[in-house]
Amino acid sequence: MTKHFEMAYQDSAGGLTMLFIHGFPFSSSMWEMQLDDLHELVRVIAPDLRGHGFSEVEPPYSIAQYADDCITLLNSLGIIDPVVICGLSMGGYVALDLVQRYPERIAALILTATRAAPDDKTGKANRDKAIASVQANGVEALVKALMPKLFSPSTLESAPELADIMQSMMVATPTDGVIGALKAMRDRADARLWLSSIAVPTMIIHGADDQIVPIDEAQYMAEAIPDAEFVRLVDAGHLPPIEQPEEFNKAVARFLITTFGDEEE
Ligand code: MLT
Repeated sequence: MTKHFEMAYQDSAGGLTMLFIHGFPFSSSMWEMQLDDLHELVRVIAPDLRGHGFSEVEPPYSIAQYADDCITLLNSLGIIDPVVICGLSMGGYVALDLVQRYPERIAALILTATRAAPDDKTGKANRDKAIASVQANGVEALVKALMPKLFSPSTLESAPELADIMQSMMVATPTDGVIGALKAMRDRADARLWLSSIAVPTMIIHGADDQIVPIDEAQYMAEAIPDAEFVRLVDAGHLPPIEQPEEFNKAVARFLITTFGDEEE
């Protein structure tokens, strides 16, 4: 009779984990070039936020709910060690919520194309107009209005196919998911209030040609967060990881190695 034995094994998945949180109204697919490139350095996880990509559309919607969903995902994967969070735009709002409410789960922070300030009165009114427009005319009308602001002019010249890829990703977002996200962003907290208490290594990457979040907002965060590093990417608009993937990934890899050492060596 063969005696049962317990086999020993090694599992690289136990190393540092990096969680990539997408912007609005995209999905985890926007991080394809980061997942491809960085998986040798870290374990990479990119969720579809509630109401986006392949995730369920179930309410409730808020930035805090998106953050709680990310923690639930990490828990369900058994990841309790602190992770590196990288959030783009709305994903940055989620990252800032995570670092405030779950500081023990965060090892480092990368914020890109995002801001800490909440919507002002005009911003909130614009969210309400956008919600009404989506209710009346569907997601496509909103996407059409967003498209001209997403990319640097140089991206549109050098990689015009990116516009079609991002447009298809956006129009695939369910109407309720889009409306939920607009409400969540409209009602988000003022993250400026806790920037100075962020105690993890932080890098801020911003496209020089971002028309949605002016670069001043990123500079403000870099000055308010203790020892934050600021990277300005030329020839990038609101989507630095897609418009300048090599430069973006290089900056992330350098930040990871400087902060945590090269565990591969
Ligand atoms: C995003 O890209 O996530 C959104 O444009 C952010 C926003 O509208 O505030």
